[in-house]
Amino acid sequence: MRKNIVAGNWKMNMDLNDGIQLVSDIRQMLNEEIHGDQEVIICPPFIHISSLALSSETDPRLSIGAQNCHQADSGAFTGEISASMIASAGARYVITGHSERRLYFQESNTLLAQKLDSVLKTGLIPIFCIGETLEQRNAGTYFEVIRQQISEAAFHLPEADFFKLVLAYEPVWAIGTGLTASPDQAQEIHAFIRTLVAEKYDQDQANDLTILYGGSCNPKNASELFSQPDIDGGLIGGASLKARDFVDIIKALDPK
Ligand code: PGA
Repeated sequence: MRKNIVAGNWKMNMDLNDGIQLVSDIRQMLNEEIHGDQEVIICPPFIHISSLALSSETDPRLSIGAQNCHQADSGAFTGEISASMIASAGARYVITGHSERRLYFQESNTLLAQKLDSVLKTGLIPIFCIGETLEQRNAGTYFEVIRQQISEAAFHLPEADFFKLVLAYEPVWAIGTGLTASPDQAQEIHAFIRTLVAEKYDQDQANDLTILYGGSCNPKNASELFSQPDIDGGLIGGASLKARDFVDIIKALDPK
């Protein structure tokens, strides 16, 4: 069964008090307004994880995730955080391969393969992001880029591990820009990803894989995007920082 997921990526925003308030507002609205089986994930900065995980542990629909992790379990890596530390703080998910990590921190597909191994070994669920840049879209190479990102970083995984992943298609040109992929553009890539996975692994399990869309998703465009047959929810940046907008996006995700 595909899970219907809306995940908020706070990026480097929100101090701890504002974050606690935001999660409390979101929880209240979820309880009052959301009656479907949507799963909600909030990915705050690392240092907020344990407080927010504690405050939402009684809410079965709400999980906490990290935005990144180091690929090693422990060691002399000053300033870094491992997947096992994230798990011990109460998170269940880790965003891996976000385009801002690829761009600003030079994360390659090879490095991301190691990070996926580390996250899975810890029992956390990776939200693995892939997506093309504007140049790649304009040059028409985007199918190849997506194929390369997923095959180099994730196709070494044994089948049982691969199908623990949640995937997120995030066209880089749509992130934080106000430019959203049209529902048709997004659907085309989501269906392509599902085909790649079916060819590599198994058709039935590929049908059950959860694939999120991300990139300037907001309460106005969410329901049309989510109504596409291969789009199973969203990874939300800017609009996840406002409780009203975030919950309206969750509302737009009717179980398929
Ligand atoms: P955005 O970010 O919704 O602000 O475009 C999405 C993301 O980076 O995950």
